[in-house]
Amino acid sequence: MDVEKVIYERRTIRRFKQQSIPLETLKKLVDFARVAPSGNNVQAIEYIIVHKPEVREQLFPLLKWARSLPRAERTPEAGRTPTAYIIILLNINIKKSYYEFDIGASVENILLGAVKFGLGTCWMGSINANKIRALLEIPEFYQITHVISLGYPDEESVMEPYEDSFNYWKDDNGVMHVPKRNVDDIIFKIS
Ligand SMILES: Cc1cc2nc3c(=O)[nH]c(=O)nc-3n(C[C@H](O)[C@H](O)[C@H](O)COP(=O)(O)O)c2cc1C
Repeated sequence: MDVEKVIYERRTIRRFKQQSIPLETLKKLVDFARVAPSGNNVQAIEYIIVHKPEVREQLFPLLKWARSLPRAERTPEAGRTPTAYIIILLNINIKKSYYEFDIGASVENILLGAVKFGLGTCWMGSINANKIRALLEIPEFYQITHVISLGYPDEESVMEPYEDSFNYWKDDNGVMHVPKRNVDDIIFKIS
């Protein structure tokens, strides 16, 4: 797939069809993350793949969705929840400075890679890390940084030019609109 198309097509998706994702696909996404750039090449990011229905059900309530939307519209309804998760762990025995950037690079590889498989994703920082640790028996030497929710999209999301608010919003047809700043507004200088 064309890189440009993938970059522009990727949007956060928060409603999913209930078709399961092959485990091989999920492993491939972790492999995309594996080869991301890493400060000093220390590679301190590790992963948990969650795909079993009974585990998914317990993980779902530990995530918070779509703070820009009215409360009633935030959380995916039953039957439209993610069909897999990739949990981002930082191995604190390995981590060095710049690890935050490593996390960003690894996650972006997963999000963009998911487009290749027709998957939608939601990068989630609003998570109950303590309860996730208990649920999945994650040892203390891992910092739980984010959860990526995944599934085949059951909603549409489009970019629109930023006007006066960064808030994303849903129209009457359920289409998400995501304001993005104009390229000429973010280039501070061309010298
Ligand atoms: C670090 C980070 C944390 C995020 N955490 C959440 C979250 O907890 N819940 C959620 O619904 N979306 C979360 N998002 C998704 C953003 O809301 C989304 O990326 C933003 O609205 C822009 O939409 P786009 O990804 O379609 O460009 C997060 C995104 C990033 C980069």
